[in-house]
Amino acid sequence: MIIAITGTPGTGKTTTANILEEYGLIVYNLKDIAIQNNFIDGYDRDRDSIIIDIDKLDDYIGEIDREIVFIDGHLSHLLRNARYTVILRCHPRELRRRLERKGWNKKKILENIQAEILDVILVETVENHPRDTIFEIDTTNLKPREVADIIVDIMDNDFMVDSFKIGSIDWSEELLKDEELWKE
Ligand SMILES: Nc1ncnc2c1ncn2[C@@H]1O[C@H](COP(=O)(O)OP(=O)(O)O)[C@@H](O)[C@H]1O
Ligand SMILES: [Mg+2]
Repeated sequence: MIIAITGTPGTGKTTTANILEEYGLIVYNLKDIAIQNNFIDGYDRDRDSIIIDIDKLDDYIGEIDREIVFIDGHLSHLLRNARYTVILRCHPRELRRRLERKGWNKKKILENIQAEILDVILVETVENHPRDTIFEIDTTNLKPREVADIIVDIMDNDFMVDSFKIGSIDWSEELLKDEELWKE
């Protein structure tokens, strides 16, 4: 069974995935799988990143015969072979701080903050998966370990939990309210 861990860059996917790995769980990084197997469809100069062939990757993970495998990556929600999807969310202001700490440039930071406010990944996930297989965790005030523990908890409860269902996270006020966020 594949569980996708997705979210806007900076929401903490890899940090959380590393803790899950510490717990002895199996985690693959989506981009690593793509590179190792040459599931690459070109190069995006504007974004300075490879273009991943998601269909090939999806077929590949469909063949994985293990009880539970997590896939860490901001495109992992596009994998139809993922049984469940966990979307990590983060308040735009905190997301900005996290991306600044990563040393990203202003343009990329603003692009990602905008995507987070507009629920881009949530919308794409809903297009690809049944709602009751999607979970959202607001990581803004959580430590990475707490995020990992929530994921383990959801798993231990056979994904039959009502908390962390989609629909309660809404950053849209930030679009109008927070001029600080948009100041160059
Ligand atoms: N729950 C959290 N609380 C505070 N900072 C976090 C949290 N999760 C991750 N970070 C920090 O935010 C940055 C981005 O995390 P990272 O795991 O690389 O995100 P992603 O893989 O989603 O792009 C890193 O500097 C990381 O240490
Ligand atoms: Mg990452």
